[in-house]
Amino acid sequence: MTKNKELETYFKLMLAGGSTALYNYVQEHSLLADYKVGDTFSAKDFADKFNYKHGPAEVFLNSLIALGLLEKKADKYGISPVMELLKGNYKNLSAEYWAHLPVLLKTGTPFKRMDAVVDSEKEYQVQVKSLEWMMTPCAELMVEMLSKTRPDLLTKKDLQVLDVGAGSGVWGFNFAYKNKDAKVTLADWPAVLVVAKDTASRKNIIDRVTTIEGNFHESVWPDGIFNMATLGNVTHILTAEANKTLFKKIYKSMAPGGELVILDAYGEVPEGELARALYQMGLTIRTIQGRVFMPEELKPMLLEAGFKTFEFHSLDVIPQSMGMLIAKK
Ligand SMILES: C[S@@+](CC[C@H](N)C(=O)[O-])C[C@H]1O[C@@H](n2cnc3c(N)ncnc32)[C@H](O)[C@@H]1O
Repeated sequence: MTKNKELETYFKLMLAGGSTALYNYVQEHSLLADYKVGDTFSAKDFADKFNYKHGPAEVFLNSLIALGLLEKKADKYGISPVMELLKGNYKNLSAEYWAHLPVLLKTGTPFKRMDAVVDSEKEYQVQVKSLEWMMTPCAELMVEMLSKTRPDLLTKKDLQVLDVGAGSGVWGFNFAYKNKDAKVTLADWPAVLVVAKDTASRKNIIDRVTTIEGNFHESVWPDGIFNMATLGNVTHILTAEANKTLFKKIYKSMAPGGELVILDAYGEVPEGELARALYQMGLTIRTIQGRVFMPEELKPMLLEAGFKTFEFHSLDVIPQSMGMLIAKK
């Protein structure tokens, strides 16, 4: 019997290596930079433009289709929407973080401190738009899964949702997209909430959105009103003590029977294993104390805050790394 695990590992690394080499070549030589979505070109156009041999250029373009960077109709190529997106902020796939790895290993000094309260407003102002894109399938699935066992979630007239460390508002807004009467309160820094408010206007839910702007450790929240609260990708940038204090504050703001949903890279979908490990590595590169607190670590803190019962679900959608821990008041 062939040792499949070894073969799997070998092919996984070969594919990762080959994909990275092709992608980096495209970006370093700006091969697709001049094309917009909708522009089309033939393999010959491409080969002539860069003075490449036609045969290898065509094989190269076909491999970029397999990577998802190009699309093909008849014999014409065009860039995919994700290639358009990869011309922006995420162009280098966080290469500068990974380049810092030797320094981190030798000195323990992270690349930057995204968990420092003083820096978080500036840092997250840039990040949240892409986080919205990355977390949307998970947020949609969260609402879908919750509503299966909570029939009134999508129809309840006065559903009040609190989204703490809301960023783009992706978690809270997905309740408002599905329940046309839900009201959402977002707690985050003012500069970060500019992005969320813009989304709320575009999606016509702005009249149901309230913001609590400033440091969420210090801002004043209403007591006992929220039926749902979300805390997405936040516990991993806080210390255990800060998480405990925040859980108590959230508990106080929730209505009896209200539920807090904590979302983080602790799902249990096997296909998400590598994504979870690299996420933790990335956290170690960009924070001092950042680490994913597992549901079993969070539960005692939540019990101490007053929450009584728990439920856990993995979110089996891309990036397959996420899970949701639900704590009920
Ligand atoms: C990793 S992002 C997560 C954003 C969003 N929940 C998501 O999952 O896409 C963490 C968020 O917490 C916010 N945040 C961190 N510390 C904060 C603090 N002390 N006061 C207010 N917001 C804070 C950041 O501005 C950022 O929007």
